[in-house]
Amino acid sequence: MTWAEPSSTATALLLLGRGADPNTEKGVECPGDLPAPSDPDLVERAARAKAALGDRVFVLGHHYQRDEVIQFADVTGDSFKLAREAAARPAAEYIVFCGVHFMAESADILTSDRQRVVLPDLAAGCSMADMAALVQVEKAWDRFTELGIAGEVVPVTYMNSSADIKGFVGRNDGVVCTSSNAETALRWSFEQGTKVFFLPDQHLGRNTAVLKLGLELSDCVLYDPHKPNGGLTDEQLRAAKMILWRGHCSVHGRFTLDSVDDVRERVPGVNVLVHPECRHEVVTAADHVGSTEYIIKTIEAAPAGTAWAVGTELNLVRRLALAHPDKQIMFLDRNVCYCSTMNRIDLPHLVWALEELVAGRVPNEIVVDADTAHYARVALDRMLALP
Ligand code: 13P
Ligand code: SF4
Repeated sequence: MTWAEPSSTATALLLLGRGADPNTEKGVECPGDLPAPSDPDLVERAARAKAALGDRVFVLGHHYQRDEVIQFADVTGDSFKLAREAAARPAAEYIVFCGVHFMAESADILTSDRQRVVLPDLAAGCSMADMAALVQVEKAWDRFTELGIAGEVVPVTYMNSSADIKGFVGRNDGVVCTSSNAETALRWSFEQGTKVFFLPDQHLGRNTAVLKLGLELSDCVLYDPHKPNGGLTDEQLRAAKMILWRGHCSVHGRFTLDSVDDVRERVPGVNVLVHPECRHEVVTAADHVGSTEYIIKTIEAAPAGTAWAVGTELNLVRRLALAHPDKQIMFLDRNVCYCSTMNRIDLPHLVWALEELVAGRVPNEIVVDADTAHYARVALDRMLALP
């Protein structure tokens, strides 16, 4: 297995995640008149509205977005690249974020007050981000304080977390990380303290600690917010080097060791390439591991005629297969799966959002309160400053 950073045919199964985070669940209904998906003019309407807005709008598209939406993105990328791109566009009055809620929050935090961030569908949340609520995380921290270990614990949160959690991490001398820089962020953290409290994706935390930093699985413990005391004894917490939050991605969590064994049996010589949000046994059994941006670069650089089973979201895998007909690219699991919340952003929502902007109204604006934004920015800036 190499993990080099930074630098279908099956039946489609749409995972019905919980949808949005608590901030977005109130407003899952589109507050305006959405064009019908059958409207034959949608592509033309989106192009016309975007052209009318010109440089005033900048459209960001995450790699897991639908093709119908991605075609209008000024830049595509993984969450790390998109955060940097948002921060690097001070001239754009509107940032239309085709991604999920936590990404739009990060864009709002990293852009100036003059810039307005729009999420075309407020129901585009992330079930993983929803797995860590601030009140639960503060309770865990109180326990660390009572135990006398809080001073040696560095909180690290994956980009896939709410602004509240990033704010908590910033306030407590921690850092944000993405799947592209988790190793660097963990190395930095172990220079600041002796333990890391990793939120909210247990798999990215465990995979990075064990496979990149050389920690033992026994150095990691799992804090379950739904169990008394997180389900951990005082001794376990004192001995642990990595305290992992019990959260996971409902899309990447679907891949199993059986998926890997099965594809190796069906396609001799296949290269298995997975995202580090996958379970530890899947990542260990894979040939290559990395962020979405790394997955794209690896496929681009692969020789013609090679076969690749890719363990990440389906929109991206399908796009890669279409872009590289000289390579055999397949989804790692037979039960093909989209991220249901990423898929909420469709062309009707994008058209509606752009046309609202043309009409002088700012729809579905994402605004993070000033105090949370300040501390979240501290944690995000620490990440952006990592080598
Ligand atoms: P990256 O974009 O950081 O690879 O993360 C994948 C993901 O699950 C985004 O929601
Ligand atoms: Fe969240 Fe997973 Fe969807 Fe990414 S792919 S937005 S982590 S549920």
